[in-house]
Amino acid sequence: MFYRRRVRSESRRSTVPAFYVMDVWKAAAERARTHGDVLVLAAGQPSTPAPAPVLRATRAALDAELLGYTETFGTPELRAAIAAYHRDGYGIEVDAEDVVVTTGSSGAFTLIFLAAFDVGDTVVVARPGYPAYRNTLSALGCRVVELDCGARTRFQPTVEMLEALPEPPAGLIVASPANPTGTMIDPAELAALARWCDAHGTLLISDEIYHGIVYDAGADATATSSAWETSRESVVIGSVSKYFSMTGWRLGWMLVPEGLRPALQRLASNMTVCPPAISQYAAVHAFDTESRRELDGHVRRYARNRALLLDGLPRLGITDLAPADGAFYAYADIAHLTDDATRWCADLLAGTGVALAPGTDFDTRNGSHTIRLSFAGATADIEEALARMGRFLGV
Ligand SMILES: Cc1ncc(COP(=O)(O)O)c(C=O)c1O
Repeated sequence: MFYRRRVRSESRRSTVPAFYVMDVWKAAAERARTHGDVLVLAAGQPSTPAPAPVLRATRAALDAELLGYTETFGTPELRAAIAAYHRDGYGIEVDAEDVVVTTGSSGAFTLIFLAAFDVGDTVVVARPGYPAYRNTLSALGCRVVELDCGARTRFQPTVEMLEALPEPPAGLIVASPANPTGTMIDPAELAALARWCDAHGTLLISDEIYHGIVYDAGADATATSSAWETSRESVVIGSVSKYFSMTGWRLGWMLVPEGLRPALQRLASNMTVCPPAISQYAAVHAFDTESRRELDGHVRRYARNRALLLDGLPRLGITDLAPADGAFYAYADIAHLTDDATRWCADLLAGTGVALAPGTDFDTRNGSHTIRLSFAGATADIEEALARMGRFLGV
């Protein structure tokens, strides 16, 4: 019996777009090597290390712990600490058993998509939005429907938009505060979305990884609320990456309804065995009072940086800004400057050393004339970036 040799090739499912911002990082690193003058406002990550108690616990764990596999859903101590964080922060009942610790929130998304959705299921996301939702769902064979979310709804989905769909989707993903806009969903609207999803059999996945980084803009919209305040049938996603300043430690978590836990246990035990052990031992201390004090200091710096940008960008003629309720991003429409934001950002980097993210990743329709500026860095860098952008734009 002779078989024809198979033509080995990449899978069709893998042909999703890459995360473009990583190319910007690469170009910025190259420029840093050749010119040494780079200011990176393209990175969606804090510029600070993990809080001191976490670093101390890491050193202690290296000496004291075996650092082998842990339980698939995470160590009991970390699950308990995360449950307490949700109980204290939102006044809701959460037990350690409700918490599933994952390899970054990125790992949580892949697991919950696999556990809850089948090939061909429709899942709704906001446009603009975080591209990995769209691309991971596509790779898993789901049908992604983007809701066109503009300034009228703070770039966030509403019940009205869901009502306009031909049929209830299998899933809805919301993020508040959101990436790239930083905008938040009004607590009443989030509750209404959760009720709508429950009533229609739609799984609500609420990405709450930017909680803790919220600014006092004096509007109700900036009150932080959790989907679990309304529905324990929803999935809440958390992470140590943003507020907790621990991106590279690769730890996230989910609060999951009971019905999905057996599927998650089956999938997670096969796919990752467990999240990184050293990060789990250390992250227990991210919730300590001393850590929280240090982290709240970072948020005060983000607030100063945000104020600088919200004042400085309009002076450069960049006036069409999303309301930056939280997270550490300013999202601007620069249609008056370009219809090729990728080129514009490359020219800005080449001319000034300032690295921004073009909207291309975040908005498949309007991203060619939007940019995202991260203000998680040093205040002096924001000031200098504004000055260089001013010279670039001739203002
Ligand atoms: C909205 C949003 N969700 C999820 C993630 C993934 O974060 P991580 O995997 O580090 O928890 C990011 C990262 O930038 C994000 O902006």
